[in-house]
Amino acid sequence: MNLADLNKIARAMVAPGKGVLAADESGGTIKKRFDAIGVESTEDSRRDYREMMFRSQQAMSNYISGVILYDETIWQNAADGTPLVRLIEQAGAIPGIKVDEGTQALPGCPGELVTVGLDKLAERLAKYYERGARFAKWRAVIDINQASHIPSMTAIHVNAHALARYAALCQQAQIVPIVEPEVLMDGDHDIDRCVEVTTRVLNKTFQELRIQRVELEGMILKPNMAISGKKSKTQASVAEVAEKTVRMLKACVPAAVPGIAFLSGGQSDEDATAHLDAMNRIGGLPWPLTFSYGRALQAAPQKAWSGRSENVAAGQQAFTHRARMNSLASKGEWTAAQETQKAA
Ligand code: 13P
Repeated sequence: MNLADLNKIARAMVAPGKGVLAADESGGTIKKRFDAIGVESTEDSRRDYREMMFRSQQAMSNYISGVILYDETIWQNAADGTPLVRLIEQAGAIPGIKVDEGTQALPGCPGELVTVGLDKLAERLAKYYERGARFAKWRAVIDINQASHIPSMTAIHVNAHALARYAALCQQAQIVPIVEPEVLMDGDHDIDRCVEVTTRVLNKTFQELRIQRVELEGMILKPNMAISGKKSKTQASVAEVAEKTVRMLKACVPAAVPGIAFLSGGQSDEDATAHLDAMNRIGGLPWPLTFSYGRALQAAPQKAWSGRSENVAAGQQAFTHRARMNSLASKGEWTAAQETQKAA
């Protein structure tokens, strides 16, 4: 492993004003997104949609540091035959790859999940590296359900263990691991319960990373924010989300980690931007805080595009706008007024 090179990639992923586009929806997830806009999910429609984003020159060159791809996409070519990974590289961004293989029910823990995909991972990583991937992603999913006493210690432990196994294999393959332990915001819990659970999850994850000798300088953390459950009656303000998230991360994440790139997790586009901005306005943090959003970057372009070739420019404009808003937020320079200004 060449740690200096891993660190260089990790730092480029969180370079000032830039963040990661999570375009790694699995076949099932992208079908759900396309169903919502009335588009049939086919190999070609998925390619056309992603090509539209990767050819958004302004967004890709100025605001996007890297793109997380799904296995199908990393092997796909643009309509003119250029590999999609080359489009990303030509824009000055770094191709990355989702390598987990989704979740399975966790035996003995009703209602809980464990992320799978470690078998043959070393071989898959070698092929992805050859194709151009320089970072990877593995997402662990932890739910909060107060009535069912979820999450269990078992779910937290096995998911942290798998994240560390994955991260160690990535570094061995000269690929920067994005370590993503996602505590879902689906429940009716308040923000303090989210902080409590996320703290346990982060502490266990870093314990496993240390045990498995993962070099912290060669990884990126992708956490959820400290946020109220969607069904909670008390919704924390932007200022409270920012203050509690920063406080939690400072307590749990070593300064050696080169950067933190949040998932959006079902927040509205503007909430995801406002929260990131408010955190960066607090300042004085040991790591850059940026975005690695899926839904909060893509909901608007998906709608604008709606599967029609005559809407490609509108889709690109919507994508560029959201990328620019989140770029500003990563520097603590976003204001709500900028939302209504057209992308330059
Ligand atoms: P969302 O921003 O839509 O949560 O997706 C980010 C991601 O990569 C989830 O694994």
